[in-house]
Amino acid sequence: MQEVVSVKNVTKSFHNKQAVKNASFSIKKGEVVAILGPNGAGKTTTISMMLGLLRPTSGEIQLFNQHPNEKKVREQIGIMLQEVSVMHGLKVRELLELVRQYYPNPLSLKELISYTGLTEADLKTRAEKLSGGQKRRLSFALALAGNPELIILDEPTVGMDITSRNRFWQTIQELAAKGKTIIFTTHYLQEADDIAQRIILFNKGSIIADGTPSEIKARLTNQYVSFHSNSGAINKLYGYSVVSHVFEKNNRFFVQTDNTDAVLALLFKENIGAYNIQIEQGKLEEAFEQLTTEHKEVI
Ligand SMILES: Nc1ncnc2c1ncn2[C@@H]1O[C@H](COP(=O)(O)OP(=O)(O)OP(=O)(O)O)[C@@H](O)[C@H]1O
Ligand SMILES: [Mg+2]
Repeated sequence: MQEVVSVKNVTKSFHNKQAVKNASFSIKKGEVVAILGPNGAGKTTTISMMLGLLRPTSGEIQLFNQHPNEKKVREQIGIMLQEVSVMHGLKVRELLELVRQYYPNPLSLKELISYTGLTEADLKTRAEKLSGGQKRRLSFALALAGNPELIILDEPTVGMDITSRNRFWQTIQELAAKGKTIIFTTHYLQEADDIAQRIILFNKGSIIADGTPSEIKARLTNQYVSFHSNSGAINKLYGYSVVSHVFEKNNRFFVQTDNTDAVLALLFKENIGAYNIQIEQGKLEEAFEQLTTEHKEVI
């Protein structure tokens, strides 16, 4: 698969503060990646460097195997920045037409409207008069105007109501199904869990985890395997170090563990007679909390 983003040993210092510390990752065509982390973790700084808006203090970034500032690269990316700024004086329709002209194969106005939910009334409004949520819809339309291969979105859903948010993620999924590469940041972890195939987790400038949402949740120390069992063999589970706790609730047995695979293997090895087995991985939010407060390197 074609490599779309390559970040190699990238550090960014502002005066003597390191905002990004030796970050490395590579993103392939068609991946949908969430960049997560607490406030000040280095997400926007990393994205700004990927877009060529900031220069790394050391290390190297390439998009489509070229420098981010190359014209060929710029034509293939669509961006939505964390800070929304819209051009004053132009109506939404004029602004979209203007931006479309910069690109060799732009999306049609009709496609942009159907992707973003901009209304006829929005199109006739001057950009600066839009509400906060409508401005984000416009900046999403501007990001898509050039029919980009790579879409980079920094906190795209901030200020969107539930309907706009749902529509936005539906569009993202349609674009992903077309093979577009999508990178976004969010503080709404459920969005990352639902949409992203991969999560890169930053904390204090460093990448502390990089994997699928399930892999990251699997780092949680309190996951559960629950099941029914009529056999009296449950107490055979005690004494295994992988089992931290066993309890019964509503006729189900719950085994607390940090390794659900190992517990499953134990259930069969010890002939527990388990049926209706379920694995409960916990929430991404808990994993995020645990990983960012422990400061543990987990890659
Ligand atoms: N232009 C700048 N000059 C000095 N320090 C900066 C600058 N831009 C960012 N920083 C610092 O770098 C660190 C990382 O900031 P960054 O904006 O990348 O965080 P973030 O992960 O995007 O946070 P948020 O979730 O709040 O958007 C912060 O400590 C911030 O104060
Ligand atoms: Mg940010």
